[in-house]
Amino acid sequence: MPHVTLLPFLLSALLLPHLTSGQSWSPSWNTTVPTCNTTTPLPTVNLTNHLALTPPMGWSSWNYFGPDINETLIKSTIDAMLTNGLHAAGYIYINLDDGWQRYKGRRSSHPLEVDPVKFPSGMKSLADYAHTHGFKLGIYSGPGEKTCAGYTGSAGHAREDAEMFASWGIDHLKYDSCCSHASAPQSEVQSVMLDMSTALLATDRGIVFHACHCGWTDIWTWAAEIGANQWRIGQDISDDFNYPGNREKYYFDVLDMLDRGANLTQYTGPGHWNDYDMLIVGLNGESKQLVGTGASNVEYRTHFSLWSIVCSPLLIGSDIRSLSAYDLATLTNSDIIALNQDPLGIPAELVAEVGETQIYAKEMADGSMGIALLNRGSATADVTMSPRRDLTIPWDVYKMRDLWKGKDLGPYDIPFTVEVQPHEARVYRMWKCAPA
Ligand code: GAL
Repeated sequence: MPHVTLLPFLLSALLLPHLTSGQSWSPSWNTTVPTCNTTTPLPTVNLTNHLALTPPMGWSSWNYFGPDINETLIKSTIDAMLTNGLHAAGYIYINLDDGWQRYKGRRSSHPLEVDPVKFPSGMKSLADYAHTHGFKLGIYSGPGEKTCAGYTGSAGHAREDAEMFASWGIDHLKYDSCCSHASAPQSEVQSVMLDMSTALLATDRGIVFHACHCGWTDIWTWAAEIGANQWRIGQDISDDFNYPGNREKYYFDVLDMLDRGANLTQYTGPGHWNDYDMLIVGLNGESKQLVGTGASNVEYRTHFSLWSIVCSPLLIGSDIRSLSAYDLATLTNSDIIALNQDPLGIPAELVAEVGETQIYAKEMADGSMGIALLNRGSATADVTMSPRRDLTIPWDVYKMRDLWKGKDLGPYDIPFTVEVQPHEARVYRMWKCAPA
């Protein structure tokens, strides 16, 4: 898909007078989460790449492997996804996170190159392997001299790097400001993200752009305008369902992330998604990278249900090759995935709350509703959902499908009540019945 136009570069030059080509971005280090509200004029032209019209689905190497990745691992992950049903279920992005680069250290001391020991056949060959098997290949970089794990970053070479990624056949880029830079002013983050976005658009390849800034500087308010397809709404997830406070005063658990997104639903939609971070399903506290003690099968299933219904990208973060049958059944539930991949791309809203139970609901393209009844508490609870009261829709008679039990229910003409286990989400799709 050709995107070549000079306009983005002119815009970039006009908007970013403080960052000229060759200069690197080096925000100050400060772990205080900022209340940045610096406003910068954003492009008035449409920088869309027309990609990611539904939330990207796939796998990312980070949550389990950290930087310990190589060609054999990636190929065997692809092979496993073809045989265990994940590819057929829609998981097509294979995203290499940090650690594919040859050098640790600053860009000014090292070129950006593929690690020849980890990836002896090179990145183009790996992209060919992915494409031949029906997948897309994603890669990771960042605007600084170094990435978060200390590998060579882009440092003012966005155009050159974007061209290199395109020549390899890359389909997705996670461009990470490195979450330690919490105090970077919004205008600086915008400018480096815009630099890479325009550089990607100028290549002859459609590359999904993840502008990753850990949910700081209100990134959801401006990232779509600079051409990002997804952006993290928070700091890194930990392998926990509901850890008291923030683990290590930093990480977000599943419920933290859910709450973080609750007021941000207006910013998500086709081509531009709030990213609740990579999935932790199947990590079981055994990640080589993430902190956390793991979650139960029920909690992982709830996590997957919630990420699906709020339309987050669905990037599996565990070792695909050793997923349990239960985890595979969780990740391949086509009724749940349909909530996530609905073409309208409307995320679920929190519509009702009683004690520790909550009801989330979203509209679907066929006029039905997707509903999650969540019990955040530690005691079993009955949850009652009334279409008129909770969803404010005048459906006097309706039928439901229980998406985890795969069972059709109803019709009903009274509110629907169900028992929900601690940390469980019962998930339904609901249709209006025509009057008899
Ligand atoms: C962090 C990011 C992680 C991972 C890591 C790689 O900033 O939140 O998801 O990409 O960098 O170093």
